[in-house]
Amino acid sequence: MSASLSTPLDTFTAIEERRSIKTFKDEPIPSDILRRLVELTVAAPSSYNLQDWRIVLVQSKEQKQTLAEAAFGQQQVLEAPVTFVFAARATAWRDESLMEQIYQTALEREAWPPKTVDYFREAIPQFQENLGPKTREYAVKDAMIAATHTALAAQAMGLSTCYMNGWQEDKVKEVIGAADDPDLAIALLLPVGFAAESRKNPGRLPLSVNVFVDRLGNGFGA
Ligand SMILES: Cc1cc2nc3c(=O)[nH]c(=O)nc-3n(C[C@H](O)[C@H](O)[C@H](O)COP(=O)(O)O)c2cc1C
Repeated sequence: MSASLSTPLDTFTAIEERRSIKTFKDEPIPSDILRRLVELTVAAPSSYNLQDWRIVLVQSKEQKQTLAEAAFGQQQVLEAPVTFVFAARATAWRDESLMEQIYQTALEREAWPPKTVDYFREAIPQFQENLGPKTREYAVKDAMIAATHTALAAQAMGLSTCYMNGWQEDKVKEVIGAADDPDLAIALLLPVGFAAESRKNPGRLPLSVNVFVDRLGNGFGA
């Protein structure tokens, strides 16, 4: 099914037609499409609306080359016009001016009443402190949700993607300029571009194997 920015696929079709594409055309993503894709990416929800993802669009030939090397030479990073590097800032909640911006925006939009903001001013630092070493995991959850938005929005616009775990974190951090940044975790790489191949759906396990009702073992639909 063909799709574009003006006639995007519906959500169900985008989900069902998405495949992990490993070969991309040497064709840039038009700037209006890329802009929209970024907007839809950051429309993702995040814990307390912290928006603690840090997303780097790797586009230049040199950066793609070093990023591909950090990803064990996986060609999709070299071929795709853009690879989204989803990083996660585990300490975003400690940045007072950023938090103030989040609160003020929600207040102006009347999305959060003042009493909610007052509550969050107390609750967010407490919640995050209690997470201890899990702050990284929580930030990565937010980044992964944003990446899912990117992949599905891209599909809806006629682009393809490949979720990627195959890379060395220290090397990816070096490429994006975060080598000495202990609070930045890499969540995912996502090359985006026009597919130069079609791939078949490798299929999924029967629902009853990994979906349950009420308790593990009680397979859904079994
Ligand atoms: C978190 C995650 C990491 C993945 N890492 C890689 C990767 O490094 N390289 C790759 O070629 N495919 C990678 N894949 C793609 C999977 O192999 C693919 O999603 C799976 O086989 C199902 O195929 P489909 O995406 O076409 O439905 C990854 C997928 C996910 C969700």
